[in-house]
Amino acid sequence: MKQRTLVLLKPDAVNRRLIGEIIARFERKGLKIVAMKMLWMDRKMAERHYEVHRGKPFYESLLDYITSGPIVAMVLEGDNAIAVVRRMMGKTNGQEAEPGTIRGDYSMSIQNNLVHGSDSEESAEREIGIFFSDEEILEYRLVDEIWI
Ligand code: RTP
Ligand code: MG
Repeated sequence: MKQRTLVLLKPDAVNRRLIGEIIARFERKGLKIVAMKMLWMDRKMAERHYEVHRGKPFYESLLDYITSGPIVAMVLEGDNAIAVVRRMMGKTNGQEAEPGTIRGDYSMSIQNNLVHGSDSEESAEREIGIFFSDEEILEYRLVDEIWI
C-alpha cells in the first residue's frame, strides 16, 4: 500500500554533516522524496510535533534538542513507507539499534538519534501537515519506478 511518511533529519544529523549520508540510504532503498526543506523549528512547532510526549520526563530536553539547530524535513513515499523507514532508522536508543540501521550505525544516544519517522498513518498525516502545505508535496514519476 502506497504511503507517505514524515522524516526529519534532526539537528545532530545536520551538525554532524550526515544529511547526504542519510538521504542516500532512503534514495537507494527505493523511497521517493516528494517534499523536502531545511528549517529551524521554533518552540511552538516543536511542541506541536511532539505533543504526544508532553509530560514525559524527557519532554523538555527533547524540545531543547529539536530546536537547537536547523533540521531537514522531508516527505518520503513508497509501498509501506512508514514501517520501512522505521526499520531503517532502528531502535530509539542508538546503543541498542541494530548495526545496518541509521541509528545503529551512527548514534550512541537515546535522544540524539539523528532521525525521526512517523509511527502510524494517523501520525504521518498529522505531522506532514505541520511541516508542509499540500502545494509543497509534489506528484511526479521516476523513470525507474517499474523496477522498484
Ligand atoms: P521519533 O519519534 O523521533 O521518530 O523517535 P521514536 O519514535 O523512536 O521515539 P519516541 O519514543 O517517539 O521519542 C521521540 C524522541 O524523543 C527522544 N527521546 N529521549 N531521554 C529519553 O529517554 C528519550 N526517549 C526518547 C528521542 O530523540 C526520540 O527519538
Ligand atoms: Mg516517535
